[in-house]
Amino acid sequence: MKLIAANWKMNLTPSQTKEYFEKFLPLVEGIKDREILICPPFTSLCVANEILRDKWVKLGAQNFHYEAKGAYTGEISLIMLKEFDISYVIVGHSERRWIFGESDELINKKLTAALQYGIRPILCVGERIEEREAGLTFKVVETQIRIALSGLEAYTDSLDIAYEPVWAIGTGNPATPEDAQLVHAFIKELLFGINPNHRGETRVLYGGSVNPQNSSEFLKMKDVDGLLVGGASLDPESFAKIVKSF
Ligand code: 13P
Repeated sequence: MKLIAANWKMNLTPSQTKEYFEKFLPLVEGIKDREILICPPFTSLCVANEILRDKWVKLGAQNFHYEAKGAYTGEISLIMLKEFDISYVIVGHSERRWIFGESDELINKKLTAALQYGIRPILCVGERIEEREAGLTFKVVETQIRIALSGLEAYTDSLDIAYEPVWAIGTGNPATPEDAQLVHAFIKELLFGINPNHRGETRVLYGGSVNPQNSSEFLKMKDVDGLLVGGASLDPESFAKIVKSF
């Protein structure tokens, strides 16, 4: 089943979250043939969980600390998140990597923790513009995935991966669906190389300037198994259009 996910990033307060769902839920009522996921900020998880309880729309978190508890001022653990019925966590988003300095090694620790706690990770990978221009896209994506999955090779089916080229995020300049398809096919092939027992259950999502006008073109691609949407997910009508665009 395709996964259409919203990453709200640092947007929408708890009261705005409530207003969002009042508009969004009727627009996607009855849609059961695709998974819909909302990843709000931590501060909206409580209200979102109350609204989404017994609903088909799933809830995810954008970030977490890999330890269960302890002296980590300002951090949130997976034990805490589990109380909000989180189904997914985003790991290694490029904003975490490039603004907050998360390394591939830290991302590996986070992935390990998410798998331990039984919350399905969405691992984000993608090249920066200078890496793309140097012809390094596949190498960068491969390195990010290999280090993230180091020691976790047997669990390749227990996560989803989002290909989000950094230059396409929030720029209005998406990858072409054909370019995304090439990277998605490469990622799927790579997973079979990493785990000889891989069953091919990992979905590869595309993210980066997805909007209601271009979403269906991405979803037509053979190896695009869903979308991770930032800016265009903040408006309930626009995200509902993306959800319904195939
Ligand atoms: P935009 O859709 O705003 O480009 O953001 C994509 C993204 O980073 C989703 O995680």
